[in-house]
Amino acid sequence: EKAGFDHFMLKEIHEQPKAYRDTIGSRIDGSGERVVLGEVKLTPQQIWDIHNIHIVACGTAYHAGLVGKSVIEQLARIPVETDVASEYRYRAPIITPNTLVIVVSQSGETADTLAALREAKRCGARVIAITNVVGSSVSREADDVIVTWAGPEIAVASTKAYTSQLIAFYLLGLHLAQTLGTQDATYIRETIEALQKLPEQVEQILLHAEDIKQYAEQIAEHDDLFFIGRGSDYAVAQEGSLKLKEISYIHSEAYAAGELKHGTLALIEEGIPVIALATQEHLLEKTVSNIKEVKARGAQVFAIALEGNHEIAKSVDLVFEIPRTVALLAPALVVIPLQLLAYYASLARGNDVDKPRNLAKSVTVE
Ligand code: M6R
Repeated sequence: EKAGFDHFMLKEIHEQPKAYRDTIGSRIDGSGERVVLGEVKLTPQQIWDIHNIHIVACGTAYHAGLVGKSVIEQLARIPVETDVASEYRYRAPIITPNTLVIVVSQSGETADTLAALREAKRCGARVIAITNVVGSSVSREADDVIVTWAGPEIAVASTKAYTSQLIAFYLLGLHLAQTLGTQDATYIRETIEALQKLPEQVEQILLHAEDIKQYAEQIAEHDDLFFIGRGSDYAVAQEGSLKLKEISYIHSEAYAAGELKHGTLALIEEGIPVIALATQEHLLEKTVSNIKEVKARGAQVFAIALEGNHEIAKSVDLVFEIPRTVALLAPALVVIPLQLLAYYASLARGNDVDKPRNLAKSVTVE
């Protein structure tokens, strides 16, 4: 059942090219110029009437929602807030009939996410669910459902569900942009082309899993480390940090690179590993200066950057290159080495990779 892989997690990491292809599926028209989200019944008028969007989820799905926020804001220019469900439901969120609420849940059964969905509906909002389980509670109660076709996810640590959720956000963002006219046809076509290249690019990254394994064996010796990034790299850094904590039990923190000097830099000492995500090239100069700050204090910096980025390569101790894509879509690639890193670090520490201590796959209690 593990199809020759040692663990479900590794199998699921390798299933991502297929999960991307299946989630994109027939949601792009034959000309390759438009997204067709038939399952979203929102009319153009209803889309025009959206004043703001709330994305609500837990854990890894919340991290997908952080990327979703930047994707929708950039593509559709609608203000988006992303919340963890257990906070959202108790903070008396300001929900109006012009608020679109998007709940994200692999299982579709997470108690807090379901409660947030119900609260949103009670306040008159329209709710879209992004879920991996057809017929789940969340899918039954939402107004619209975008199914992520990742297939069953068995490992407690979510991998292919997260990346399929990113694909769902790209499709939804493009769908909103097409209706609102916030992006021109060329931009939409080029983004769709780049989206369709992602599965093959993930395959290329997976060919270099051995490089990540070697680095993971080094960090398995450490007790603390940091992830830094700017923009959507910061959102992915938070997911990378959660994945590592969850299965390797190594303490890590994800920081917006520009925030380090507001306190956290005090923790940087000789030899501490810092993983810098640097795919957002419009922010490169700033990220490089943050890398210099940690290096000057003795950090060992491992960067993940787009192929051919010499500026990063010369500023760090080790660089892992991922294939080039547009900035918007980079999260769907840069997270892959982070998943592998967590997997191999957990393995090096002799942990039960698929069933980490204290955790359950589906959290149906509040
Ligand atoms: O089924 P859900 O997507 O609603 O689950 C949400 C979280 O419990 C889940 O993503 C959790 O954080 C994962 N174990 C992380 O790998």
